[in-house]
Amino acid sequence: MPEKLRTANRKRRSKEPIRLRTNMDTVIYTIYENNPNPPEMEKLGEIIKNGGLVAFPTETVYGLGGDGLNPESSKKIYAAKGRPSDNPLIVHIARMEDLGVLVREIPETAVKLAERFWPGPLTMILNKSDAVPKETTGGLDTVAIRFPSHKVAQELILSSGGFIAAPSANLSGKPSPTLAKYVLEDLNGRVDAIIDGGDIPIGLESTIVDLTGETPVILRPGYITKEMLSEVLGDVLTDPTILDGNCKERPKAPGMRYRHYAPKGDLVVVEGKSDEVVSRINEEVSKAADAGLRTGVIATKENAVFYNRADSVKIIGSREKDEEIAASLYRILREFDDENIQAIFSEGFSEEGLGVAIMNRLLKAAGHKTINLWEDA
Ligand code: TXA
Ligand code: MG
Repeated sequence: MPEKLRTANRKRRSKEPIRLRTNMDTVIYTIYENNPNPPEMEKLGEIIKNGGLVAFPTETVYGLGGDGLNPESSKKIYAAKGRPSDNPLIVHIARMEDLGVLVREIPETAVKLAERFWPGPLTMILNKSDAVPKETTGGLDTVAIRFPSHKVAQELILSSGGFIAAPSANLSGKPSPTLAKYVLEDLNGRVDAIIDGGDIPIGLESTIVDLTGETPVILRPGYITKEMLSEVLGDVLTDPTILDGNCKERPKAPGMRYRHYAPKGDLVVVEGKSDEVVSRINEEVSKAADAGLRTGVIATKENAVFYNRADSVKIIGSREKDEEIAASLYRILREFDDENIQAIFSEGFSEEGLGVAIMNRLLKAAGHKTINLWEDA
């Protein structure tokens, strides 16, 4: 590893991600899915072919893309993000036949999942081929692969040679970006170009499933739920660390070990019966306000009117609609940062279906600080 990178990573562990000295002129292109292949796309593909970096929209979150088969590009991605280089990247493809280039063999499980869920928000971990450099996989012999459904992502992948390594397009430690303005905020001067594709439909990162063992294991929950995977594969396990903050095991996805998605303010999740959650959040808000803190609440549409003591109340969506909640979460965490909210209280949400992914990200953002009123009852 070059000395500059090594120093960057060492510093990063102790503090906030540092700003590397970069003087790149970041150019912004607006390309929507209704016209995903304008003439500029060829130029954007060339940037990646030549070892440069382009941030782009996917159906989950914005990605920070470089050539997945070029070790120098992967090193640049780590530097631009301020991310430890032992945290592997996902390689994005846009043609089924390109899967074979990246892996030693394609297991039957992968064929079945690809037929059902690709293109889409599912990442598979498989044994890598020699074509994939260790720089891209953080030194591992396995590789994470995804075929996104977003048309702009697909066109960029095709115009850049077929294999884009891309983590989420945020600085390490910040929530994944669901709007191009947040990509610009984090990566201006650090990437060659940003494609503004407008709103992102899902808003949480892809489901990751490890297919290298006997039984498939979900390493990161997402839009493709355990139930959906089980319908195709039968038995599917879940990494036990996903919702349990006290679990002694280490998460198998290196990225799930870091404290991610953390807002600047202190976040506490209050779980319990809806009316009890409302009164407890109001009590906590009053206490925090009395202590001189600026307060914020993450509220369901149904309950938002009841939180009249907080400085900032954000409606995350209807309790009945997981998809609204998923799509708003990261934006709201960033908005609280911008408003310098110091004490944030969130309602807890159902842990079924997509709710597993929502609660996984929310509890991580909270550092697993919860008030559980079910247990008190
Ligand atoms: O939706 C997504 O997946 C987005 C978009 C841009 O595609 N990408 C994304 O990438 O979330 P990133 O780098 O932020 O998260 C990738 C996760 C990390 O937790 C990483 O440790 C894990 O995938 N991962 C990558 N390769 C792995 C491997 N070979 N084995 C286990 N975990 C792996
Ligand atoms: Mg990420």
